[in-house]
Amino acid sequence: MGIFDWLNGATKNGTAPQAAQTTAKPAKAAHANGGDVKLEYTSESITTAMLSQLASTPDPRFKQIMEAAVRHLHAFAREVNLTPGEWIKGIDFLTRTGQACSPSRQEVILLSDTLGLSTLINTMHDKTAMEEATHSSLLGPFFREDPPKFKAGEQISQKDASDEVVLYGTVTNAKGKPLPNAIVSVWQTATDGRYDMQQEGGGMDCRGEFTTDADGKYLIRTVRPLFYSIPMDGPVGEMITAQKRHGNRPAHIHFLISAAGHREMVTALYIADDPHIMDDVVFGAHGDLIAAIKNNQPGCPVPGVNSIKFNFALSAESAADKLSGRVGADPSKIGATAH
Ligand SMILES: [Fe+2]
Repeated sequence: MGIFDWLNGATKNGTAPQAAQTTAKPAKAAHANGGDVKLEYTSESITTAMLSQLASTPDPRFKQIMEAAVRHLHAFAREVNLTPGEWIKGIDFLTRTGQACSPSRQEVILLSDTLGLSTLINTMHDKTAMEEATHSSLLGPFFREDPPKFKAGEQISQKDASDEVVLYGTVTNAKGKPLPNAIVSVWQTATDGRYDMQQEGGGMDCRGEFTTDADGKYLIRTVRPLFYSIPMDGPVGEMITAQKRHGNRPAHIHFLISAAGHREMVTALYIADDPHIMDDVVFGAHGDLIAAIKNNQPGCPVPGVNSIKFNFALSAESAADKLSGRVGADPSKIGATAH
């Protein structure tokens, strides 16, 4: 029985744990077996004691993050009156979440995404941009480094390109000036709704890297992406099932765009008529990232086809941007020393 069954069962059977003692008792005299040592933690003083041990942390940012993490973690445990049995179930869940990871699967990123934490961090990151730019979206658990390189207009779907969609537009700076030689990396599901990492064999498909031309324009041939369920056969899927969430993502196409002197852009385009735009299980679809597939658009470099036109605007890069990193990574590069 998984943690969520267990928690549900405990509630249904009326065996929910009793509220823990939250009011600190007056400190007792040292126990007879404890000699003269007078030390007793209360549910509040343990937090103060833990924070005092962090005082020796030399790195100020690491210290700030750990102090806040401890304060909030302790407050969480107090708020829900967490019992030993519940916490060991939580430890079991976190352990299995880590164990579900492999060079081709990242269950911890999936947990971050489904808890809304990835989108929270991206939203805060967008606010620190030097200039207003196209918004971020999730890198997600299916990004891979070193995708195949393509020339403008080439098709990235190797196996089935029957439902072709052309992507085109311009990469500009925040003022609308085109950016030549920007690197536009793109990845998405195949026509069956699965990423290459979820397919037998594990070769790369439906992903690739393009370069903008002298006018900042990009031109990509791909296929219509499908909405899909996040992987539901692991501990995160178990959590989603216990919460009666559907686990679906609206159809989308991921982009990673970089240009010298500009903040790297991690984003995605969401297909406008998808039924899961409003209830994306990982909260990626929003605002200016929703794009329509239109047939025979005027100005499309390939006439008579289904296409999406989308212009991306990149902010100038700050010194902090060089260090900020991404929410997500190629799964094979996370915890690589353990593989
Ligand atoms: Fe995705």
